[in-house]
Amino acid sequence: MRRLSQGARLVLATHNPGKVRELADLLQPHGVEVVSAGALGLPEPEEDAPDFAGNARLKALAAAIGSGLPALADDSGFSAAALGGAPGVLSARWAGPQKNFTMAMERVHREMAGSADDRAWFTCALCMAWPDGETATFLGRVEGTVVWPPRGAHGFGYDPIFVPLGGMRTYGEMDPAHKHATSHRARAMAQALLSCFLPA
Ligand code: IMP
Repeated sequence: MRRLSQGARLVLATHNPGKVRELADLLQPHGVEVVSAGALGLPEPEEDAPDFAGNARLKALAAAIGSGLPALADDSGFSAAALGGAPGVLSARWAGPQKNFTMAMERVHREMAGSADDRAWFTCALCMAWPDGETATFLGRVEGTVVWPPRGAHGFGYDPIFVPLGGMRTYGEMDPAHKHATSHRARAMAQALLSCFLPA
């Protein structure tokens, strides 16, 4: 598989500032120069694939072809067992055009309607794409539970209602460095780093 060379420029194919921050943090030791799709003025493609891997691939390809640079895209989401895995690929859409995650978390709570099944998980698909159309996709997942009410001001999205297995704190309460080292995104990134990046 193709690898990024030391000092290469890499487009982070996302307009989500929370993801840009986490991905840039994870890549910081690996000698690539990152620039976000937003900073390059690249359009956001329609995320109409049925799963995380498909959406990550279409975002990475759009950014790589649009910029002429290798691109890394993240498609991720929060799933509750009591909701049959929802919101899942619709995690961003549950927050509406205003990206109101207070509303999205309230919807999770409301639709769970006091269910005794509090299992939840985050999934992340990362896709590396090159301007000639080659792609490689990596998946990471973290299991945990849904809590209510939301707790903590760190992170983004559904972080305040998720406690990873074995922990006490929500992702919103956790030191960001700890979340970044152990999250679904970190797990997918560990595989991407092995396959596509030079060792740190
Ligand atoms: P998309 O991948 O751009 O479709 O958006 C995924 C959505 O899932 C984000 O907007 C967040 O709501 C949610 N999400 C993904 N990863 C995380 C995370 O690490 N913490 C909290 N929410 C997340």
